[in-house]
Amino acid sequence: MQNVNDIEKKIEDLRNQIRYHDYRYYCLDNPEISDFEYDTLFKELQKLEQENPLFITSDSPTQRVSGAVVSSTFEKVKHTTPMLSLENSYSMEDVLAWNQRISKYVDVKNIEYIVEPKIDGLSAELTYINNSFVSGATRGDGEYGEDITENLKTIKNIPLKILSNEKIVLCEIRGEVYINKKDFEFLNEELLDKGQSKFANPRNAAAGSLRQKNPQITAERKLSFYVHSFGQVQGLEDGHKIEKHSEFLDFCSKIGFPIQKNIKVCKNIEEVKSFLMFLQENRDNLPYEIDGAVVKVNDYNLQKIIGYTNKSPRWAIAYKFPARQATTKLLSIELQVGRTGVVTPKATLSPVALSGVVISNATLHNFDEIERLNVNIGDDIVIERAGEVIPKIIKVAKKNSEGYFLPPMHCPSCGSKIVKEEGDVYYNCINPSCPAQFRRSLIHFVSRDAMNIEGFGEVVIDQLLKLNKLHTFADIYKLTFDDFMMLDLFKEKKANNLIQAIAESKTKPLSSLLAALGIRHIGDKSAQILADRFKNIDNLISAKEEDLLSINEIGPILVQSILDFFANEDTLKMIEELKVLGVNMSEPEKDTSFSPLENKTFVLTGELSTMTRKDAENIILSLGGKVTSSVSKKTAYVVVGENPGSKYDKAVKLGITIINEQQFKELINAK
Ligand code: IVH
Repeated sequence: MQNVNDIEKKIEDLRNQIRYHDYRYYCLDNPEISDFEYDTLFKELQKLEQENPLFITSDSPTQRVSGAVVSSTFEKVKHTTPMLSLENSYSMEDVLAWNQRISKYVDVKNIEYIVEPKIDGLSAELTYINNSFVSGATRGDGEYGEDITENLKTIKNIPLKILSNEKIVLCEIRGEVYINKKDFEFLNEELLDKGQSKFANPRNAAAGSLRQKNPQITAERKLSFYVHSFGQVQGLEDGHKIEKHSEFLDFCSKIGFPIQKNIKVCKNIEEVKSFLMFLQENRDNLPYEIDGAVVKVNDYNLQKIIGYTNKSPRWAIAYKFPARQATTKLLSIELQVGRTGVVTPKATLSPVALSGVVISNATLHNFDEIERLNVNIGDDIVIERAGEVIPKIIKVAKKNSEGYFLPPMHCPSCGSKIVKEEGDVYYNCINPSCPAQFRRSLIHFVSRDAMNIEGFGEVVIDQLLKLNKLHTFADIYKLTFDDFMMLDLFKEKKANNLIQAIAESKTKPLSSLLAALGIRHIGDKSAQILADRFKNIDNLISAKEEDLLSINEIGPILVQSILDFFANEDTLKMIEELKVLGVNMSEPEKDTSFSPLENKTFVLTGELSTMTRKDAENIILSLGGKVTSSVSKKTAYVVVGENPGSKYDKAVKLGITIINEQQFKELINAK
């Protein structure tokens, strides 16, 4: 039998091995061991931690995915130093003009520049205290960001612990969260399979995945990170020569952070120019989408001399690549009817290669745009891709037709008259029973953010519509095993899985149902607010205008939309039917009857601002936890308020999870 110290040592040893192999695999792209060997190490660690939960620390490689779901919105956090943005430039002349501007401050003939690709992702800040990752935030408005700690932890190439023997007291690493082209395409295919809408570009995919309230979803998306700058760094021992950005990046790379490969230190602006051209010409060969490059003055002392404007450093500039264009023929214009009846034109093109992909569709936005472009079927047109999957038509290259494509008078799906409101650019089919609208509403109803019926994708919906099986949302819950067995590629197992998924969706909370019903202007956030406020659908249906108006976050347009929605007899009938079929119509109360903090020991230190220590202790006790006065290895959480005492330092030393007041509140609310 091993003693406790041996077990702890073994656990720490396994963690260090895994951290090292993560680094080899995710940062250096150069693994030393096979997947099988890695999995064996990981499983061994998992097993030891399960048997010895007291030794679990938040920076363990097993702790990437937390079960805690953010209840409404992400907490705001203030950046210790503002996260600035970059000035943009769109031509080589602009870059030369920038160089001219900085020559007022430094002798540009004798300086070094560093050029880095600019991935269009999402800026994030990672905070490490004594080498452990403790929190992370989005850039937000530069001053305040959102706390997305749990989501960032799921990104495999972000180290949860800095790989260094030296203890760095505080280290704020800034960089970009992004998704590789391959992973982006895979994600979109997967979303489509599940009947959900695709992301228009990798940036949206990264942002949408990172801002998930459920970190388990973020964990399923293959996000990556690279370092591009820093906030505060404290306690770095002397002896590091970090006087230049290139040295900072090298240092980051050595201590476990992912750094981009295609970075070049340039000796003069001519070299900068040719490397910018090189990146522009080779952008399609990179595994991720880049929209430009960033030129920085390399030397930190010179950066200081050149300084900052309010919004951005003067010592750096972003060079944005020109959008990629191609010319092709407009073959036809298809009219699509959305969930809310908006009719949008979509162009079908003669297939053409653009930035490594064959393009056969383009966006036309709306009919005003068609008029502005004076474009019609048969014209040769220029398309442009600025990161999006579906390119835009930007102009007519050669006019082969008369005039422009006219907006429809009648709905292409149901034939009803099309209406355009004064001042609106959209043409609408206002027939509530329009089949095309209903089809889109069904796609939305079953989607992940709504009732989340996995396997109920567009292909299934189209076949069921054809078989006349779906007339209202309630019909979904009347479908039988035999109905599914009639569909293409359905065998017993698939049919049963789908029946199971439909049954499970009946237990979704009211907030999901409200989001699923497709009430105009009601998204998942307002659905959650309404559900929290009214608790069940009957309360909401009978709510008066003034009740709704009294809710802060719900404005008059939403109120009218809710009133209109529930004034419809058919809607009320459908809701009654859903009820009879067993669909849950209420929002669960936050359950405090069980003891989610059972056996978890808390230590409180410092002053809390929104509650007394006694209150906090009572809450912990009421949720089954324990409160002790001193920190030991057995402590699960140390809650830190203003002016914390030595308990804080001890917690840091022992690697205990440290949480602030806000995180404590989240923890108790999530339970
Ligand atoms: S440096 C003070 N380097 O571009 C500015 N930013 O448009 C520090 N970005 O907010 C940022 N690649 O999110 C820097 N290699 C790179 C970058 C980069 C992408 C983003 C970053 C920034 C935005 C500004």
